[in-house]
Amino acid sequence: MQKIDGNAISNMMLESLKNDIHAMRPVIAALFAGDDPSTLSYIKSKIKKGEKSGITVKLVQMESSCEEDIFLNQLEELNHDSSVHGIIVEKPLPPQISIKKIASLINPRKDIDCMSSENNGRLITDDFIIAPSTAMAVINALKFEGIKYESKKVSIIGRSEIVGKPLSLLFLSKNCGNATTTVLHSKSSCIKEETRRSDIIVAAIGNPSFVTRDYIGDNKPVLIDVGINYLNNKIVGDIDPECYEKSSAYTPVPGGIGPITVATLFENLIKLKQNYA
Ligand SMILES: NC(=O)c1ccc[n+]([C@@H]2O[C@H](COP(=O)([O-])OP(=O)(O)OC[C@H]3O[C@@H](n4cnc5c(N)ncnc54)[C@H](OP(=O)(O)O)[C@@H]3O)[C@@H](O)[C@H]2O)c1
Repeated sequence: MQKIDGNAISNMMLESLKNDIHAMRPVIAALFAGDDPSTLSYIKSKIKKGEKSGITVKLVQMESSCEEDIFLNQLEELNHDSSVHGIIVEKPLPPQISIKKIASLINPRKDIDCMSSENNGRLITDDFIIAPSTAMAVINALKFEGIKYESKKVSIIGRSEIVGKPLSLLFLSKNCGNATTTVLHSKSSCIKEETRRSDIIVAAIGNPSFVTRDYIGDNKPVLIDVGINYLNNKIVGDIDPECYEKSSAYTPVPGGIGPITVATLFENLIKLKQNYA
């Protein structure tokens, strides 16, 4: 079985974006309310990767108790700040801040993680410019690895707005997918029956080693693990590593979809610039 090296794919993607990044000298604002250590560490990794690639990622950190109006005013300021080319609103958000209000307020031209109603709506009508970075990172992983998914049976476990749902639309898309797609979630029955018949299994659940060997058929599927879980001071995925030997290819955790997601975020920045210019 083939290990899909997310760091190598991320480096190749950044190399291909180098000239566009150099010409643009972009600045991304990561807007965040709170002090959740895992989110801050994820933002730091984006700052570091940005530095290496010629992109300035600046953290705009607000108090977790910050009122919704204040947070939305800050977002509006970034919308109008001509020195800022891309905005990411980092999750989790505190409960008083409505994600729906952010979706309608964030400037679609700066919305590099595809939160806006406009950019998300384009996924439904299949004329999208960008997609949420983690969902598109899965497609990028398969493309870079030369793994065909047209007409294949894909099972996605998880239906979140940032991963499972948009990924199902990408796999269904006539322009980039054409796969037969099943989306599974916590109320699904027969998850194993679906995954055991699948050519590609994507796990985006947030449950350490949820997918065990009995979820995998004898057809050597491709296993894509989106999960990032902290367990005993270690990062582990949603797929038990014991499954790998039953696959034809797999993404490890860490070092799989995570680094590709950051490169995809930077790719989204360039795509928005080129298509909305
Ligand atoms: N690699 C990256 O860059 C990256 C980026 C984002 C997220 N992640 C990771 O990906 C994972 C998923 O993130 P998310 O934001 O999509 O999570 P989420 O919003 O919590 O969604 C989790 C999904 O899993 C489903 N689920 C939960 N328990 C299940 C069960 N027992 N059986 C079947 N489905 C179940 C939920 O179903 P219901 O809808 O029915 O509740 C939900 O649709 C997390 O580990 C997160 O840290 C990684």
